[in-house]
Amino acid sequence: MRTYLVTGGAGFIGSNYIHYMFRKYDGQIKIINVDALTYAGNLENLKDIEDRENYCFIKADICDKAAIEEIFAKHEIDRVVHFAAETHVDRSIPNPEIFVQTNVMGTAVMLNCAKAAWELTDGSFQADKKFLHVSTDEVYGSLEEDGGYFYETTPYAPHSPYSASKAAADMLVKSYIDTYQFPANITNCSNNYGPYQFPEKLIPLMLNNALHGKKLPVYGDGKNVRDWLYVDDHAKAIDMVQEQGRLGETYNIGGHNEKQNIEIIHIMIDTLLEMLPEDDARRKWINEDLITYVQDRKGHDRRYAIAPDKIKAEIGWEPETMFADGIKKTIAWYFAHEDWMENATSGDYQKYYEQMYQGK
Ligand code: NAD
Ligand code: TYD
Repeated sequence: MRTYLVTGGAGFIGSNYIHYMFRKYDGQIKIINVDALTYAGNLENLKDIEDRENYCFIKADICDKAAIEEIFAKHEIDRVVHFAAETHVDRSIPNPEIFVQTNVMGTAVMLNCAKAAWELTDGSFQADKKFLHVSTDEVYGSLEEDGGYFYETTPYAPHSPYSASKAAADMLVKSYIDTYQFPANITNCSNNYGPYQFPEKLIPLMLNNALHGKKLPVYGDGKNVRDWLYVDDHAKAIDMVQEQGRLGETYNIGGHNEKQNIEIIHIMIDTLLEMLPEDDARRKWINEDLITYVQDRKGHDRRYAIAPDKIKAEIGWEPETMFADGIKKTIAWYFAHEDWMENATSGDYQKYYEQMYQGK
């Protein structure tokens, strides 16, 4: 039985990945989920699997070297899948240091502990041990509106403290690959959407606001482009890269689904009206009048778009979920989990929302 150490498994993509892996490999794998449970980590995301014998949760900070060493000492880890990070660009602008701490220093700790646990006396590594570092397309910077794609060979040009900290982490992973032939892969992925996404990110924030009759705050002119990927497709890609990818390689993962932010919001309003029952009171206020243009994000990247050619050619992965289907599945999930949204938006989130959007 293969043992996975997943970091950040209580967050959005990590929890979807853990669900995906148990659906795919039921009974054949063990997963240890290590997460510090920051504002973005939520054990409710995993409540239907928490009693499994082949799953265990450890509350720890990835920057805590002693805690991570102890996990490697107690368990025979075969795979590391490293999601844990501070992830929200808007938070990184007023508060960059925590991004450097978790994303750079935390990745250094993870790499060093895995290296120490897996390294043999001659400097080679035990067979069949693999580390996968989950990163973002934002490390490549911003594309022109009218052309070009991010390839694995595109030079790094991060703009926000978030993307700069992820770029630094990627460089550290690359240095381990080059210096020690450390058995790792990096994946750089486009914007994800789906169940369990914290409502500070575009899609769940707009969904939650629309359902409560609150304004839909569009940054700048609303024409910034993102390349949206359904989170299950991402989980599948991560597993395929780790099992079938060439060690040491980077793979870009994208949705082939570029949309302007304002288009996303129009699609969401239309889909909500299509899905809400005729007698649902919220239909009264869900319409285009909720859209409000607000002050732009500082340093706002104009366009991201991934060319997922390499992962398709080498591994055979391509995105499967069309946006029209993915957004329906996502909205249906939030409808069925309104209590999840209520818990996620109470307390700290309310304070954050007021600070971030006050006066905009
Ligand atoms: P998220 O913010 O939903 O979850 C992050 C998780 O990491 C949370 O559970 C949090 O508690 C945990 N965490 C934070 N700091 C920690 C620390 N010091 N020690 C241990 N755990 C800690 O993030 P997400 O959207 O699921 O993103 C996961 C990964 O994917 C990140 O590395 C992110 O950079 C990358 N990524 C995300 C997207 C996206 O669209 N969401 C796109 C590309 C890449
Ligand atoms: P976000 O979900 O924060 O992801 P990222 O910045 O990592 O791409 O934002 C997606 C896009 O939506 C980005 O161009 C910023 C924009 N946006 C808004 O217009 N309004 C909002 O309230 C938020 C959160 C984002």
